[in-house]
Amino acid sequence: MEQRKITYAFFSGILECDAGYILEELDQKLSPHGFMVPLDLGAKGSCLIGGNIATCAGGVRLLRYGSMHANVLGLTVILPDEKGTIIKMGNGLRKDNTSIHSHHLFIGSEGQLGVISRCQLLLPPRPTSVNSAFLGIESFEKVTKVLRKAKTELSEILSSFELMDSETLKCLEENDGLKSVLPINPPFAVLIETSGSSKEHDSEKFSTFLESVLESGLAIDGVLAESATEASNFWRLRETAPLSVMKDGYCYKNDISLPLKHFYELTEILRERLGNKVIRVTNYGHVGDGNAHINITSKSFDKDLYKMIYPFLYEWVAEHGGSISAEHGIGRLKRPYLHLGKHPDELLLNQRLKQIFDPRGILNPYKMIDSL
Ligand code: LAC
Ligand code: ZN
Repeated sequence: MEQRKITYAFFSGILECDAGYILEELDQKLSPHGFMVPLDLGAKGSCLIGGNIATCAGGVRLLRYGSMHANVLGLTVILPDEKGTIIKMGNGLRKDNTSIHSHHLFIGSEGQLGVISRCQLLLPPRPTSVNSAFLGIESFEKVTKVLRKAKTELSEILSSFELMDSETLKCLEENDGLKSVLPINPPFAVLIETSGSSKEHDSEKFSTFLESVLESGLAIDGVLAESATEASNFWRLRETAPLSVMKDGYCYKNDISLPLKHFYELTEILRERLGNKVIRVTNYGHVGDGNAHINITSKSFDKDLYKMIYPFLYEWVAEHGGSISAEHGIGRLKRPYLHLGKHPDELLLNQRLKQIFDPRGILNPYKMIDSL
């Protein structure tokens, strides 16, 4: 028997459900009603909405719909106190300034403050017109120009702007036999998607944009998806990238935010620094959100290589105004580097909050927040 509960308020575009729904399952439930979940990521078939909220998962459409902080209207949370207090925060309202917006503390808390059992989510209308294109670009500088142009000219219909560098595409072909959709392997490829409600209007806007990008030489090649199957082939390349790099043997995964002017610099520095000690250094990710996945691979784990990468990589990111964890969190792996780029007062504030919610320090210990 189905134990999980879900309720909808379709006039308001809001959903309340238990935390144990799989992201894709939720999205499929919403589809016949003309709504969607505002989050999409490669692991949609297995990740749970409660986990997505606890980790503040980002994904490929954050550019359009915003982060979990923009989409979660309320939460029900079980606290780790002796009584197991259950707190319901939010009343399924878009606007409610009657208290501190306390549910936000649990978004991205990595399960350190309480256990999320239910959530209220904002539901965007499901687009009825989706267009996707794959562009080849010669330099990173041009990638940033195409992004700026896409934001300006596609504006309200732009829903994704994802990057794959040539090393990522090479890896997909070598390790998974997935061929790029472009006849050449350009230094950079971007997957641009628009989502809207008018086929004619959106197609015209997108075609005008693509023509101008190609004619001006900002892109050297481009393919527009002619069907949903073709679009899903574009997405398969992007979504397989994090799995494909693993097939080299061992992967030093990095998920960083960087200001766009420094976005690709670190990838080049790492290639130079690590030389033939590595199989490859790839950069793919959510360039539209300033979020890079720099993945460094070797045949097997190598302690000396690890020491050449860290803390160098994280220090470089902190020195250049970035974040050492854009969307994957701190967990155990990044725990030793947490202080980088963070003011000690903010770390102390986190510890104080942990003390209030979990005075016994029993929830997910030794992770992001130290006990006082
Ligand atoms: C991605 C995951 C790794 O963007 O965050 O593919
Ligand atoms: Zn990602």
